[in-house]
Amino acid sequence: MRIPLLDLTAQYDFIKTEVDEAVQNVLDTQHFIMGEPVKKFESKVNGYIGSNYAFGCASGSDALLLALMAIDIQPGDYVITSPFTFFATAGAISRLGAIPIFIDVEYDSFNIDPEKVRAFLEGEDELAKKINAPKEKIKAIIPVHLYGQVADMDPIMNIAKEYNLFVIEDAAQSIGSKYKDHSAGTMGDFGCFSFFPSKNLGAYGDAGLITVKDEGLAEKVDMLRLHGARPKYHHKYVGINSRLDTIQAAILEVKLKYLEEWSTRRREIALLYNELFEEAGLIREGITLPKETTGNPETSGVHIYHQYTVRINHRDELAKHLKEKGIGHAVYYPIPLHEQECFAGLGYQSMDCPIAYEAGRQVISLPIYPELTEEKIQYVVKTISEFIRG
Ligand SMILES: Cc1ncc(COP(=O)(O)O)c(C=O)c1O
Repeated sequence: MRIPLLDLTAQYDFIKTEVDEAVQNVLDTQHFIMGEPVKKFESKVNGYIGSNYAFGCASGSDALLLALMAIDIQPGDYVITSPFTFFATAGAISRLGAIPIFIDVEYDSFNIDPEKVRAFLEGEDELAKKINAPKEKIKAIIPVHLYGQVADMDPIMNIAKEYNLFVIEDAAQSIGSKYKDHSAGTMGDFGCFSFFPSKNLGAYGDAGLITVKDEGLAEKVDMLRLHGARPKYHHKYVGINSRLDTIQAAILEVKLKYLEEWSTRRREIALLYNELFEEAGLIREGITLPKETTGNPETSGVHIYHQYTVRINHRDELAKHLKEKGIGHAVYYPIPLHEQECFAGLGYQSMDCPIAYEAGRQVISLPIYPELTEEKIQYVVKTISEFIRG
């Protein structure tokens, strides 16, 4: 049996007629830049997640960059974020000449630990002493909602208020996930989404979107993505070219209709994995299952399982075993950002973020997509069980 990590062909088979028609409609109009589908998609996302303003852009990476540009992040400013995320989160900060501050994640959620953020800002911990960032230069915090689960936003928002920080939610992996009934990307000042093809809502190429809370900042973001101009050729800001492609918007509009259904199915698959791993007794034997820290009934959140990620020692040997057995898998992410070569100059040691360090060596994501069958899920669990029990 071969089981890919993600099977987009099965999804395309299901929506082919609608998608092909949507693409053909754009071809018929020949309106490729900022065409009608862009506005329609923006408005539908806005309605779906309940944000104030939503603007399509070229990628999730650009959404982060646009948010930082909108709040005038300057060289020498500092922005707090997670070390356990895709590179783009910190890359956007560095591209503006600003300095990322990496604060460790929580063990259970893999998301930034608000208590450690507070300790850092109060200057209490070793990291704060080492980084020695002037308080007035720390401008923003970017919590990342990793694997489809929202970070612990209440304390993060409280800290941001106290320390006068902007909050930019990196919701690239979390469209439709919830924290206490609030959708990812609607709590902070900005929400940044990626529609990279493998995301829960994936385009057929690069695509992204940024949500904005404040009207003035929304207007600025709208201009920044179009070289800072309004009207055309009248440049108020030095912006960038970052538009959501019309063809991608048309495809995304079709897919958005199915997103809730797909997310529900992902949750079912995740819960089935949990059940099967528990039944097989593998928790006692060293596998740690994903925890829903913001998706349990007390907090009424929703984890959308962009990834189903477990922790295990001897992860690399397991990866080899899965490959031999035809099971797709991936490691998101093997090297936390505080250990990346390009950030060596920032002076972090591996143990400045011990949880992220350990996660980088233990995590492995298993196949999850709405079309995955129970038989295949059972095969994945059985294969892992064989590996663990030798
Ligand atoms: C957490 C996170 N942030 C940012 C990005 C960047 O998104 P994109 O690939 O659309 O530029 C991604 C996607 O890969 C991501 O997973």
